[in-house]
Amino acid sequence: METLIPVINRLQEVFLTVGAEIIQLPQIVVVGSQSSGKSSVLESLVGRDFLPRGSGIVTRRPLVLQLVNVLHNLAEIVKCWHLFRKYESSCKKTFPEPIYLKIFSPHVLNLTLVDLPGITKVPVGDQPEDIEAQVQQMILSFISNPNSLILSVSPANSDLATSDALKLAREVDPDGRRTLLVVSKLDLMDAGTDALEVLLGRVIPVRLGIVGVVNRSQHDINTQKSIEDTARDEQAFLQRHYPSLASRCGSRYLARTLSRLLMHHIRDCLPELKSRVTVLSAQYQARLSSYGQPVEDHSATLLQIVTKFASDYCNTIEGTATHIQTSELCGGARICY
Ligand code: GDP
Ligand code: NA
Ligand code: MG
Repeated sequence: METLIPVINRLQEVFLTVGAEIIQLPQIVVVGSQSSGKSSVLESLVGRDFLPRGSGIVTRRPLVLQLVNVLHNLAEIVKCWHLFRKYESSCKKTFPEPIYLKIFSPHVLNLTLVDLPGITKVPVGDQPEDIEAQVQQMILSFISNPNSLILSVSPANSDLATSDALKLAREVDPDGRRTLLVVSKLDLMDAGTDALEVLLGRVIPVRLGIVGVVNRSQHDINTQKSIEDTARDEQAFLQRHYPSLASRCGSRYLARTLSRLLMHHIRDCLPELKSRVTVLSAQYQARLSSYGQPVEDHSATLLQIVTKFASDYCNTIEGTATHIQTSELCGGARICY
């Protein structure tokens, strides 16, 4: 993801300067059954250990995680985390009001990630009888947003054909244009079985891809295994068990795949940016012509031109003089102030 940050920041800058909406990146939504590894997958994507995970910890409310790219602001992350811990323990019963969390960091994209409660079958404790329908409704409300990229998480040690995560994704994305399948818990399969057929798309094909991962186990979490060690061991596991697929699996590959999908999205936004630039460029050309033709006596007219331009400029553009070159972004169009 980190390679995308400078590109996107640069583009946001250009979009802002031409007065277009900031590029809205798709929000990434994880769906899956309880304890399938949703929070673990998000955690490895963000590269930080702050989401509540574990078999005992059940996310009851959607968590909308807004990553905000800033130069540096570590204190803020910690603040959010404490806030979240308080929130989580105080609202175990009710939902579906989402919890919003903002993370300010130099190492993230301006991106929204949504961690959803697991798909439940049976009410536990004081959950309402119709909990399954309620949770499904909530999940659908998030993933039916056409601007959502669906990360459908299914554990390798359960039957993919019955995956509720995929079933729900199909409902809102029948063509599979925005659903990616993540097969978690590759390390927890029964001896003598493997996920090769699943990962190759022979059980259920998934257009955007199927990525197998090994997240941290509960023991790894308890012993505070680092993200780096986890990624290293995951790669070793993949090399050992899925040598032919190792380069197309794992958390890093998942992050790269998502980056690529985000890039495609940005590429799709570029024609809009280009036409904005063209319109703007024409407007400035017209204004330039309104200053009249250059005449021999430069000194007088130049002053008029500069004065008129300065007042027009100040009226229309807030802020200081800007110099943008968009030639590399939109096929030759270029404006310089
Ligand atoms: P969620 O309920 O879907 O958000 O699942 P979590 O991310 O909280 O994970 C549930 C439990 O499964 C935790 O104890 C994780 O440590 C464990 N877990 C998740 N993914 C894997 C994996 O790939 N391998 C192993 N061994 N454990 C995993
Ligand atoms: Na869990
Ligand atoms: Mg969770």
